[in-house]
Amino acid sequence: MNYRHAYHAGNFADVFKHAILTGLVESLKAKQAPFRYFDTHAGAGRYDLRGEQARKTREHEAGVQRLLDAVRLPAALHIYLNLVRALNAGSKAHDIAIYPGSPLIASLLMRDGDRATLCELQVDESAQLKKLFAGDARIAVHQRDGYAALDALLPPVERRGLVLIDPPFEAQEAEFDAIQGALNSALKRWPTGMYAIWYPIKLRHPTQRFRRWFEQRRIPKVLCAEMLLHPDNSALRLNGCGMIVINPPWKFDRQLAELLPVLREHLAQGRFGEQRVEWLTAE
Ligand SMILES: C[S@@+](CC[C@H](N)C(=O)[O-])C[C@H]1O[C@@H](n2cnc3c(N)ncnc32)[C@H](O)[C@@H]1O
Repeated sequence: MNYRHAYHAGNFADVFKHAILTGLVESLKAKQAPFRYFDTHAGAGRYDLRGEQARKTREHEAGVQRLLDAVRLPAALHIYLNLVRALNAGSKAHDIAIYPGSPLIASLLMRDGDRATLCELQVDESAQLKKLFAGDARIAVHQRDGYAALDALLPPVERRGLVLIDPPFEAQEAEFDAIQGALNSALKRWPTGMYAIWYPIKLRHPTQRFRRWFEQRRIPKVLCAEMLLHPDNSALRLNGCGMIVINPPWKFDRQLAELLPVLREHLAQGRFGEQRVEWLTAE
C-alpha cells in the first residue's frame, strides 16, 4: 500500500467527490432523525497543501483553487467551498493551506446527534484521523479494512445514513471486484442505506463493466455521475471520475444535473470537458 492522499488532496477528483458528498449529507439533514456516516477509506482527514507531498504535485491548483472565486453556485458546491474557505480564514484567496478530506467535510456538516464511523487501514493516516477527531464523541475511528468493517457494522442503529466508498484503486481493476463483493453483502444487511462509490476513469472499458454490474445485479435506484477532463483513451492519466449513488435522495439527479456543468466549466477552463448524469437502474 503506497497510496497517500496528501499527493492528490484538493485535485479535480476531490472537488467532484466532495461537492457530491456535501449534497448527500445536506439532504440527510432534511429530516430531524439522526443519521450515520460511514467512510470506508477515510484517509487522514485533513491535508497540508504547503506540505512536501502536496507541493510535489500541486494538484490542487488545477482543482479546488480554480473554484475559490466562483460565484452563483449550486447550493452543495457553495456550502463545500465555504467550508474550505472557513478552514483557510486568514490566508490570501489563492493561497489555501488546508484542504479537508471527506471525514472532515462530513463532520463539519453533521449535527449533534449524527454519528460517523471512519475506517482507514494505514497506521499513519488513521493516527492522524484519531488525533483530528479526539474529543469528538460523535466520531469513531477504526484502523481496519473498510470493506470488512461494513460486514461487521451494518446496519447502523440509526437506520438511515450514507456509506462513502472511496478506495485508492492501487489494485486497478481488482478494486472494482472488491467493491462489488462488499456491496453484495452490505446491500443484504442494509438495503435502504445510501451508498456513494467514487471511481477513476482512465480507459472507458473497465468503468463500463462496473456500471453494467449494477444493471445486471438489478440493484434498484442507482444513479451515476461522471465528469471527464481528458478524453478517456489513456490508461496513464486520470482522465475523469465518476460517482455511483445507490438510493439517492429525492430529486438528487436534478441537483447533479445542475452541479456537474458548473464543476466542469470551472475545472476545464475552456479545454476539453464532458459530464453526464444518468440512472443505471430505477425503482
Ligand atoms: C482515496 S484515499 C481516501 C480519501 C478520502 N476518502 C477523502 O475523500 O478525503 C483512500 C484511502 O484508503 C486507504 N485504504 C486503502 N485500502 C484500504 C482498506 N482496505 N480499508 C480502509 N482503508 C484503506 C488508503 O490508505 C487511503 O488513505
